Amino acid sequence: MSLIDRPVTDLTPDEAAAELARLAEEIAGHDIRYHQQDAPTISDGDYDALKRRNLEIEARFPELVREDSPSLRVGAARAAQFSAVIHGVPMLSLDNAFADEEAIEFDARIRRFLRLGPGELVAYTAEPKIDGLSCSIRYEKGQLVQAATRGDGRVGEDVTANVRTIADVPKALAGSGWPDEIEVRGEVYLSHEAFAALNAAAAEAGQKTYANPRNAAAGSLRQIDARITASRPLSFFAYAWGIHSAPFAATQWEALGKLAAWGFSTTPQSERVENAQGLLAAYQQMEAVRPHLAYDIDGVVYKVDRLDWQQRLGFVTRTPRWAIARKFPAQRARTILEAIDIQVGRTGAITPVARLQPVTVGGVVVENATLHNADEIARKDIRVGDTVVLQRAGDVIPQIVGVVPEERPPGAEPFAFPTHCPCPLHTPIAKETTAAGAETVVRRCTGEFACPFQKLAHLRHFVSRRAFDIEGLGEKQLTAFSERGWIAEPADIFRLARDPEKIAELKATEGYGELSVANLIAGIDARRDIALDRFIYGLGIRHVGETTSLALARHFETVETFVTTAKAASEQTAGPMFAELSDLDGLGPTAVEAVLAFARARQPMLIPPDISLEEHLRLAIPKLNSKARAALAARFGDWASFEAAAAEAAAGTPGEAFVEVASVDAVGVVAARMIAEFFGEDHNRALVDNLLAELRVIPAERPKTDTAVAGKTIVFTGALEKMTRDEAKAQAEALGAKVSGSVSKKTDLVVAGPGAGSKLAEATRLGVQVITEDDWLALVAG
Ligand code: IVH
Repeated sequence: MSLIDRPVTDLTPDEAAAELARLAEEIAGHDIRYHQQDAPTISDGDYDALKRRNLEIEARFPELVREDSPSLRVGAARAAQFSAVIHGVPMLSLDNAFADEEAIEFDARIRRFLRLGPGELVAYTAEPKIDGLSCSIRYEKGQLVQAATRGDGRVGEDVTANVRTIADVPKALAGSGWPDEIEVRGEVYLSHEAFAALNAAAAEAGQKTYANPRNAAAGSLRQIDARITASRPLSFFAYAWGIHSAPFAATQWEALGKLAAWGFSTTPQSERVENAQGLLAAYQQMEAVRPHLAYDIDGVVYKVDRLDWQQRLGFVTRTPRWAIARKFPAQRARTILEAIDIQVGRTGAITPVARLQPVTVGGVVVENATLHNADEIARKDIRVGDTVVLQRAGDVIPQIVGVVPEERPPGAEPFAFPTHCPCPLHTPIAKETTAAGAETVVRRCTGEFACPFQKLAHLRHFVSRRAFDIEGLGEKQLTAFSERGWIAEPADIFRLARDPEKIAELKATEGYGELSVANLIAGIDARRDIALDRFIYGLGIRHVGETTSLALARHFETVETFVTTAKAASEQTAGPMFAELSDLDGLGPTAVEAVLAFARARQPMLIPPDISLEEHLRLAIPKLNSKARAALAARFGDWASFEAAAAEAAAGTPGEAFVEVASVDAVGVVAARMIAEFFGEDHNRALVDNLLAELRVIPAERPKTDTAVAGKTIVFTGALEKMTRDEAKAQAEALGAKVSGSVSKKTDLVVAGPGAGSKLAEATRLGVQVITEDDWLALVAG
């Protein structure tokens, strides 16, 4: 009798293990044929029998449950399951505020941006922030045609069949007056009651339970089989919209009313409030009702009510200026610090990490927390064995707030920070210094590319969610693959997916069923087309975060232009003193230019002896304002040091390509130096070239081309009177122009207001067209 036919009760542990391995593989194969190839080779009944047998064996031998067990898989992996939906209008996220002051500042910022006086009334909606997952539902001629998850904000997953099962979601819009085409957006969530019932049933059936209603809602919405989704009582609140073929409201408040009239549930706790005091009162109100609600909320969302103002306020990268989430205070818990491990970051930065006795904080189990740096550990006097207070606010990573001194076990020693990298090379750890030689709290492994830990951290960043977001390639797999020597640099990941030998070897490895290998390859292949901003971010250059990457992508548009310019910049990079001056607080670009001009001219001057550095600067460089003089005096102390620094800065003046990189909005000299340094290393150049051979990098979204200023590079200088500089910049960018901070040969247009100085002069010298604010307004009005 073969194993397959043996009753479960007869199996020895060895036989059971063999049988579980076989079942894992067989079921995985059926899953692929069913879900990915739409070509099942067995009946549903036979398939269920296999799953049942697997479960029975697992119930008898719980210690033998495999990591790739079919019973642990909730549906199959994503990549192949849901098709991608590109959102017509991106689904944004919100900035967070945690204190009254931040809510007040939000109101003040809006007033500044819109140039509103303190007496002017600004109305807001204050809506509960539902803790679920957002979803965009598309209606054509009033009929539901498609529903998508948020995904990364630009591309989500098609979950139409599942969303159709949600009772709160109208399949056809009620009432009238809806645009022919509209994407209604809102939150899919699970009530406390539904969550408890779902978990009770799962526990009963011996299945995994969900940690909180949010996870349960997400898991339920992303079921492959819509019948399972239908069995879970998901709900939906509408609060926003994407594409709409015709305007349908003048305010957010009116829009919420319309959504309700068309058959959607809207949050009953939403209010329309006025000014900063209204925001604060609404928050208190929401805090008071929170315990009585049937679902989780994690804060209040404030939105500027007038939609024309929302339009003017626009967006910063991925969040709107016209809305903010005021989050409820962080939740805290106590636990024991079991160990402090040392982690090596991709730039060699050494970070101590707390290993904790698992504890639930705000519905999430926490086992690790960052301790930031050695100084932080010393300052809070954190010792292994201590009882620590842990805090988690919103989606922010958990923090250790402090220790409970009374609970310290006898003999707990202060933490001795290691002096050498824990990597096999044991390279010394150095304290990082600034360009000026001052010590910082950052410590780095000095091993650079030779340090295997740094390499691994680089790869981890590369595959992370905001970078290449490669599904199925987590820390565990990366470590295993790099230990086998399969992956040493990012390009190797893509080579691996095309290497039949390695794939075969992988399939033969314990823990990698056919399905997981297929999913891994699908996950990798799905990223061979990558947006330019993600590509740049994925390189993991220091100081080049998401916002900077996006700004670079929008400026350079194609990967070729970006790489060529960055390589050129590496040959003409700014010297450290030039960078320091450019980055000095209180010293604007005009002041920096004045210092450099002074250093280049080196005109001898008769200066009375014994005057202060500030006074000396006033006489020698009349263009400096008092703030700049004070900043320079504080930094350099005496004239001789200043003069030497100015000469050094002038000698380190960068070339044109560098200036182009540095003057991209949101980049600046410090990040530009990091980019130049990165592309100056042969090793990195090769890494980028190898990677490019594997990928197609999608050019950044083409800016609008049908406007008068599309594609032009514009510099705003001097005071604007009809709108703020921020609004002008936002408007120019929305019309497809590039806004730069400095005038060069590449500048097309300078908009100069009263008080314009050196930039105006430079524009005149270069023959760049200069216009007034009124000319600008006329130009963009079309
Ligand atoms: S408005 C551009 N309103 O919060 C504005 N979001 O952190 C987009 N959320 O992804 C969102 N309740 O999942 C908005 N009343 C509400 C909300 C809400 C919950 C979620 C939503 C969004 C996230 C932003």
